[in-house]
Amino acid sequence: MCGIIGIVSKNQVVDRLIDGLERLEYRGYDSAGIATISSSEIVHSKSTGKLVSLKNKIKQNPIDGHVGIGHTRWATHGEPIEVNAHPHVTKNVAVVHNGIIENFAEFKNGLLEKGIIFNSQTDTEVIARLVEEKISMEKCGPLEAVRLTIEKLRGSFALCFIFKGLENLIVVTRRGSPLALGFGDGENFVSSDALSLSIFSRKVCYLEEGDLATLTSDEVKIYDSFGNSVFRDTQILFTDPINLSKGQYKHFMEKEIFEQPEVISQVLGYYLNAFEGTLSLPSLPQSTEIQRIILIGCGTAFYSCLAAKYWFESLSGITTHAELASEFRYRSPVVRKDDLLIFVSQSGETADTIGALRFAKKYTKNILAVVNVEQSSIARESNWVFPTKAGPEIGVASTKAFICQLIVLKILNIKFASDLSKISVKNRSNLLNGLLELPRLYAEILSQNENIKKLCKKFIGSNSVLYLGRDVLYPIALEGALKLKEISYLHAEGYASGELKHGPIALIDESMPLVALNPWSKVFEKTLSNLEEVKARRGKIILFTDKKGKELSKDLTKSIFQLPSCSELLTPILYSLPLQLIAYYTALDKGTDVDQPRNLAKSVTVE
Ligand code: G6P
Repeated sequence: MCGIIGIVSKNQVVDRLIDGLERLEYRGYDSAGIATISSSEIVHSKSTGKLVSLKNKIKQNPIDGHVGIGHTRWATHGEPIEVNAHPHVTKNVAVVHNGIIENFAEFKNGLLEKGIIFNSQTDTEVIARLVEEKISMEKCGPLEAVRLTIEKLRGSFALCFIFKGLENLIVVTRRGSPLALGFGDGENFVSSDALSLSIFSRKVCYLEEGDLATLTSDEVKIYDSFGNSVFRDTQILFTDPINLSKGQYKHFMEKEIFEQPEVISQVLGYYLNAFEGTLSLPSLPQSTEIQRIILIGCGTAFYSCLAAKYWFESLSGITTHAELASEFRYRSPVVRKDDLLIFVSQSGETADTIGALRFAKKYTKNILAVVNVEQSSIARESNWVFPTKAGPEIGVASTKAFICQLIVLKILNIKFASDLSKISVKNRSNLLNGLLELPRLYAEILSQNENIKKLCKKFIGSNSVLYLGRDVLYPIALEGALKLKEISYLHAEGYASGELKHGPIALIDESMPLVALNPWSKVFEKTLSNLEEVKARRGKIILFTDKKGKELSKDLTKSIFQLPSCSELLTPILYSLPLQLIAYYTALDKGTDVDQPRNLAKSVTVE
């Protein structure tokens, strides 16, 4: 899953290709490259590492052109070295690719037998070589060469091609991976992400599955997979171009953590009328007709699904499952037409989640998306959309988007519970008021960030950290551990407190830090007993609890951070915040690349 961009214009394009790539770097950052047509020849520049290395390379050896394609890579086939970076260039063709070609090996073998020499280990070079063969041997035109090549490919792809001698043409196509076109004045654009186009053009359209298109500076023509000329609706983007400024902060992640009080107010303002104490929601399926809820996501989004499972069952009384998207679609799950499927995703482009959504659509129309990127594939392919309104999230490790997912799911939970008369008017109003308190409580916790920073010192010298939570806080323990792994590269595992004795307790000794989430609740005492077992084995406990929990845990550990008290059902939202800070400060201590941690990408568009 990579970022791709193409520009064809009456003006020079190189600087703008780089600007576009900057906005796509969240999709991958292990190498980058661009190619243009200059004096009829294909010229290109590639570099390993972050985009900044490519920028420096181009500064030293400038290239120019009125047509160009660019790529930022997250390695799938072939390690992240320069020869594997895109664009892949042959005599007449340059191509950038997002996705995976599953049957590339069979074509590669055929081409090798014909004596073709490959420069890289990528699946993408096979595409370039196949198109080259069609152009130079079979004398096909560019569009025809691409059309005939993709007919044979299996897998997912978004592809942009430029051709030697053609200074006013880009050919693009997609299957499985998204592509958006942007329309300008005397210039046209293509990108894997409409938001990255918003710096060039607000008028965009999305290619549909199997579409091909040709772009010149004055014209865009779109064809369906049968070669028929087709029209795709254009939309005007209202989202502001992604703000790439960190402001006063050192990292985007830090900024995104600290702006959460405002972001939470924003999402609450979108769904709640604070003055009247009412919900104002987009349309959604009749709760009385829903037999089961199935929540689906990946990574952090999966943990918000898991938290919502606890909520939907305990408050709304609806049988609920939380599913990993990558497992769901391949294990023949049972989906019925009266199930409600909720797909949760920050980017709305995660290939596993899209795959699960398309599978589920065969069985039910009740497809609801909880997404941050409102123009994304998941939003477009769902029948109901609940935006999370977190604003662009740049840091690879999700923070504010996760919190907004939890809030939106909580709001849906309250809505279903009241529609099904599972909660009293008073209880509903208490929960809504509880939500409205969150921005203040977040600000209160953030003001004590220095105390949380001190707690991270407990991790020094440890190779591993355990996170424990029970009931609604179990998913948050999982998310806390994931956050730490993602950005500090420190091994961490989340466990349900009650599970500790069934295995992980073997890991406990005086060098093992354990982060416990245990505010006063119906399961407080059970968890306290589990923590006593840790103490007896000299584990180093860092406890997050509330006032009452602190009083009752005085003898357990000296490392206690007291959080404000809140309704038990809202603790997942509150207790996520200190865990974000723990991950951030630990990564700072370790000097890792907080916003672009190794091997990760923000949006994973391959399976
Ligand atoms: C990637 C990111 C994770 C994210 C997951 C799901 O793996 O590195 O941080 O949670 O994708 O992303 P989504 O955009 O679907 O929420």
